[in-house]
Amino acid sequence: MDIHSDISLKNYTTMRMGGPARFMAPVSTPEEVASLYRNAKQQNVPVFVLGGGSNVIARDEGFNGVVLFNRIKGFEVLSDDKSSVLIRVGAGEIWDEVVARTVDMGLSGIEALSAIPGTAGAAPVQNIGAYGQEVADTLVSVEVYDSHQDKMTTLTLEMCQLSYRYSIFRGDEAGRYCITAITLKLYHAAPKPPFYAALQQYFDNNHITIYTSAIIREAVTAIRTDKLPDPAQRPNAGSFFKNAIIEKWQYDDLKEQFPDMPSYDMPEEKFKIPTGWLIDQAGFRGQLLHGMRVHDKNALVLINESALGYADLAQARAEIIQGVYDMFHITIEQEPLELVQG
Ligand code: EPU
Repeated sequence: MDIHSDISLKNYTTMRMGGPARFMAPVSTPEEVASLYRNAKQQNVPVFVLGGGSNVIARDEGFNGVVLFNRIKGFEVLSDDKSSVLIRVGAGEIWDEVVARTVDMGLSGIEALSAIPGTAGAAPVQNIGAYGQEVADTLVSVEVYDSHQDKMTTLTLEMCQLSYRYSIFRGDEAGRYCITAITLKLYHAAPKPPFYAALQQYFDNNHITIYTSAIIREAVTAIRTDKLPDPAQRPNAGSFFKNAIIEKWQYDDLKEQFPDMPSYDMPEEKFKIPTGWLIDQAGFRGQLLHGMRVHDKNALVLINESALGYADLAQARAEIIQGVYDMFHITIEQEPLELVQG
């Protein structure tokens, strides 16, 4: 295993921000993961697991520890019956390549999660979701190295406690596990309507009436390419805020004031309000705040155009949060994780 020192996190995060990591170690097997954690523990050095860096914000001070660069590969069909297929994927595989492979196999289940940057191992961490699917719908189990117990183990879907943009990996157990592989259950049957509104709109506009996972992949990729800036050209971390989840009383109150407010019904009589809409209504869409551009095609995305450092991002974020609060009395929350000293 190679261990590099003094590596700029700016080059490993799509927001292109952040100071140096003291050490960085690319790992390609679960055994290397275990040995890295053991050595780090002996030397009292914290570990942070990085995949594609597309959902992580690094700070100017960098990270005084070791960044584990997950490169564990693998794509294996575990079982295949008439209706479903179990597929085990190494955590370091590129997520979109995994989607492409399963779509090529004629399978459905993750096709709407096309064109999401990052690795397969990162998918359960924030329970990636888009266009009517989330990884929680197809995830069966997650293989991990448990740094508390110093052993490899398998967590079932229930144990991971996935909900909207949440799992134990970014919640109660943050920092404890390194995901080494995930197992997904996909289907031979073609996807069926009803589809997410934006997807159906695309089908209608393009006179598409036959639905296959390949067609959905194509549609989602086209929609995303149009609405989301390419991180390679314009540094960003996808949705910078989570959508807001509010109680019924607040929903009723806001709906009266803002009858056009879009929303999605959630369990337990809660409502999800698109934060892109809230930020847009608060007047920030297209604005440049402290070097951070609020994307003109989707106010949920912040682009690092000319921020001088993390303080600029923090100031832009604070102004947007305050602006939305002043108008709607909703406190919106950041979506990407922060690479901070544990
Ligand atoms: N909207 C506006 N103005 C904006 C942005 C959005 O009015 O500037 C409105 C849209 O018109 C629409 C609503 O807000 O009525 C929702 O917008 P959209 O369908 O684009 O989805 P979203 O809620 O903004 C979420 C996910 C995306 C995912 C899409 C599609 C989160 C935080 N984001 O965005 O995920 O691709 O749905 O399912 O849940 C990501 O997490 O990085 C991500 C891109």
